[in-house]
Amino acid sequence: MNPTIELLKNHRSIRKFKRKDIEKEKLDLILETATKASTSGNMQAYSIIVTKDQKMKQSMFEAHFEQPMLHEAPVFLTFCADFNRMRKWLSQNKASMNFDNFMSFMIATLDAVLASQVAAIAAESLGLGLCYMGTTLASAHQLGEILECPKNVIPVAGYVLGYPDESPDARLRLPIEAIIHQEKYRDYNETEICEIHSQKNEEGMARFNHHPDLGDIDNLARVYSELKYTRESHLKYSNDLLGYLSRQNFMENA
Ligand SMILES: Cc1cc2nc3c(=O)[nH]c(=O)nc-3n(C[C@H](O)[C@H](O)[C@H](O)COP(=O)(O)O)c2cc1C
Repeated sequence: MNPTIELLKNHRSIRKFKRKDIEKEKLDLILETATKASTSGNMQAYSIIVTKDQKMKQSMFEAHFEQPMLHEAPVFLTFCADFNRMRKWLSQNKASMNFDNFMSFMIATLDAVLASQVAAIAAESLGLGLCYMGTTLASAHQLGEILECPKNVIPVAGYVLGYPDESPDARLRLPIEAIIHQEKYRDYNETEICEIHSQKNEEGMARFNHHPDLGDIDNLARVYSELKYTRESHLKYSNDLLGYLSRQNFMENA
């Protein structure tokens, strides 16, 4: 098989790491490769913050919901939506001061996320493992403060990175037919929804069966919306993020 396709198909999130640093040349190569990602208008409206220092990791620990992998991995990469650099350049060149609105935040977020995934693939191709941490976005306001992000910079994605010390099974995906639509979106009927999710439901429930807060939750759909991602928690994260967007000068159109 084409080695790139093989690498991509073998992806697994890694949460346990060897106590081994990442060689500087390797990390530099990964970061340089990330900068080759496509970006809107080639504006490169993102920044990458490399965290190796134990004290910095400790200060980020609570914001990352105390996920132990933060301390296990030698490196944490935070990908920030960033129009600070561009706006400084605009100002110095007496250009119109744009990019302080929600669309700009979305553009910068896409740039940051594309760069993050290019770095992820580069890292995996060099024998490293990683796990994204959605807590980066959920706690963007706290992490932005810890990482001293100026206005127009917002952490949106991040992952732990290091040498894998586990080899987990591949996590199930929905059947390909469930994801791909030809020419137009074809909505799902009840039977299809049931069939599409049946394997995942089984695998997922096997993982959550012993969860201490499972209570009477008896299917994976309920795990997702009543245990893992509750309405209350997502309303809170939404409000935190919207407030932070406003304070970080990304909501001038609102
Ligand atoms: C944006 C994003 C946020 C994630 N956040 C977390 C997280 O906070 N903690 C965690 O253990 N895994 C996290 N993951 C990893 C997912 O759980 C994982 O990608 C998914 O279960 C599929 O498994 P795989 O990556 O091994 O194929 C995240 C993944 C993504 C893409």
